[in-house]
Amino acid sequence: MKGFDNRVSGADPLEPGLTPPQTGMATAPEMMGPVLKIIGKQTLSGHIPIGGAKNSALALMAGAILAPEACRIHNVPRLLDIERMGQILATLGVKVSHVGNTLDLDASSLKTSQAPYELVSQLRASFFIIGPLLARLGVARVPLPGGCAIGSRPVDLHVRGLQALGATVQIEHGVVHAYARKLLGTRIYLDYPSVGATETLMMAATLADGETVIENAAQEPEVADLARFCQAMGARIRGIGTNTVVVVGVPRLHGTEYTVIPDRIEASTYLIAGAITRSHLTVGPVIPDHLRAVIAKLQAMGLRVEEEGPNRLRIAPAQLSSGWLCQATDIQTLPYPGFPTDVQAPIMALAALSEGSCTIEETVFENRMHHIPELNRMGADIRLKNRVALIR
Ligand code: UD1
Repeated sequence: MKGFDNRVSGADPLEPGLTPPQTGMATAPEMMGPVLKIIGKQTLSGHIPIGGAKNSALALMAGAILAPEACRIHNVPRLLDIERMGQILATLGVKVSHVGNTLDLDASSLKTSQAPYELVSQLRASFFIIGPLLARLGVARVPLPGGCAIGSRPVDLHVRGLQALGATVQIEHGVVHAYARKLLGTRIYLDYPSVGATETLMMAATLADGETVIENAAQEPEVADLARFCQAMGARIRGIGTNTVVVVGVPRLHGTEYTVIPDRIEASTYLIAGAITRSHLTVGPVIPDHLRAVIAKLQAMGLRVEEEGPNRLRIAPAQLSSGWLCQATDIQTLPYPGFPTDVQAPIMALAALSEGSCTIEETVFENRMHHIPELNRMGADIRLKNRVALIR
């Protein structure tokens, strides 16, 4: 993309002239990881290709455990989290091969039900393997996910749901042990529409005896993608993408070939990058329906976002007589189809440059506002009270 590749470059940690970020948390050089040096005030242009959804791919990787046959998954992005999940599956005995964006997983000879602590503690999504492992082997031992920078992120809904399906669950020394000779279909009401809990329980229910109804289920597109992947493996699932998911257990699933949906968070992030730099650019492929809440807010801010064909979005700068980049608008993060929490930080950067004042409320996670002091250091005027940011 013109004006982008040559301006945003990776650099060695602590390259002379670069100041380490002052997050108030760990800033020792060895904790910093790679540094991005960004030279601002550039206009972007062109088309940004959007990769496969990371959160979908991670769930599908867990889902592949359900079948004692090979699965081929296309459009899997090459990211550290995907690599880590691959390593966790490999320790369980899954054959893993990632060539280009195609991931081959063969769980025909699972050799253990115990997931490795060092790896699971680094990747919360890997806890979701507890559902398929339990369903396939009748036993799963998965460490609790480690402390997380965006709140405590408990797994109580996963655990209670597995118990409702008939599993005995014990937590000892930070490891969740779940056992069940046979999981039994049941009715589960989730206190909160947790993405991970819906995914764990839906996967577990595919091989249970009888019908499972998950009420107040998460409706995120990544949950629906996992359900369709399971269907492709032979699972019987209704209500996909709604808040009531019904799974009728089958004795066995089979291998399949499947393509991951485009990443709506990545697409949103680049749309906001376009907005912040007063650029004309397109992003795609996307499923525009998955971005409705983000598009609506960008439009409310005065930005021009249009669909260009069935799977591409174009963003163009606002034309405000005041000359400001955009107008302030209030935002609240919510479960899908509400505004995604994963886009809260980038849209706050945009809101910091908008005309007027607005609030951004984070309702999904208790502690996901670490970017505010950093934005303020760059000149933003943002105050935080509880989970509400006031942006002027
Ligand atoms: C997934 C996404 C993450 C996104 C989040 C919300 C993946 C790999 N990650 O995370 O990018 O930000 O959805 O859209 O898909 N909760 C409980 N008990 C539980 C489970 C969750 O209290 O048993 C709480 C969490 O602490 C959090 C809220 O529910 O406050 C939402 O969490 P959840 O929807 O489960 O998010 P994840 O599946 O972890």
